[in-house]
Amino acid sequence: MMAPRETNMKHYLQFNDLSADEYTYLFERAALIKKKFKAYEKHHPLVDRTLAMIFEKASTRTRVSFEAGMYQLGGSVVHLTTGDSQLGRAEPIEDSAKVISRMVDLVMIRTFEQTKIERFAAHSRVPVINGLTNEFHPCQILADIFTFIEHRGSIAGKTVAWVGDGNNMANTWLQAAALLGFKVHVSTPRGYEIDEKMAVGAGGTGVGSYQFFSNPLEACQGADLVTTDVWTSMGYEAENETRKKAFADWCVDAEMMAAAKPDALFMHCLPAHRGEEVEADVIDGPQSVVWDEAENRMHVQKALMEYLLLGQVA
Ligand code: CP
Ligand code: NVA
Repeated sequence: MMAPRETNMKHYLQFNDLSADEYTYLFERAALIKKKFKAYEKHHPLVDRTLAMIFEKASTRTRVSFEAGMYQLGGSVVHLTTGDSQLGRAEPIEDSAKVISRMVDLVMIRTFEQTKIERFAAHSRVPVINGLTNEFHPCQILADIFTFIEHRGSIAGKTVAWVGDGNNMANTWLQAAALLGFKVHVSTPRGYEIDEKMAVGAGGTGVGSYQFFSNPLEACQGADLVTTDVWTSMGYEAENETRKKAFADWCVDAEMMAAAKPDALFMHCLPAHRGEEVEADVIDGPQSVVWDEAENRMHVQKALMEYLLLGQVA
């Protein structure tokens, strides 16, 4: 039976919120849940449970994967945006958290500052999941690592090359590397570097798990996985033209893939801009696993939602 609400409650606001052992469980559980889905086998552990999804930024994958995933688990969803809720009319986030979390069992939020989701979680009676903030995108990295494991086995000891912006995705990769024992080669244009303290935590737990390269080609050398993201993340649109100039050399192309290991994978959280951060022959080429990566969002998040509500199930 599940633990009573408000005791044992865990939020998933950043990758560091779960331990390496919990990730081992989640990856195994996601594989099982995916297998059942593919076999059209019912898996309804969350009957009568409701997920509220709050979007303050646009989404395709996060919306569909959480919504379809929750229905597939036997539950239901409520979808809110800034524009159609009182959040857009300045109701305090703390008040919104108190109200929404009295009516649902789980909340997923996509918003701007990490502090906003932290404030919501601090006043929530139910688990809160980060569906992307300016600083972190833990559900995406959960899916990316699951996808790596499916294709290549354990990620421990492997090297991931990050080519591009020091953004929410890059920060989350750094956290994951420190926790799960792999290395990230980071190459960002000058002025768009990762804030290390914020990414891995003030304790500096990530030391040794990442290395910076000014040349993106060098970052790709010997990598088991090459990954990138848009040059301009949501919320930074005003910087678009400046960024296009600064990021011109941070486009993952065939030469970068050739510098990586021969069996290196390519990933991108999507949406992608072909001809900007990645060339079409890479994202649409044989090393790319972006469609598995997108699909896996749903399978890992189903495992995550089940875990946050029911704990480890046999
Ligand atoms: N990767 C990702 O989070 O996609 P959406 O913005 O479409 O949700
Ligand atoms: N870094 C991107 C990821 C989109 C899924 C953004 O924040 O817009």
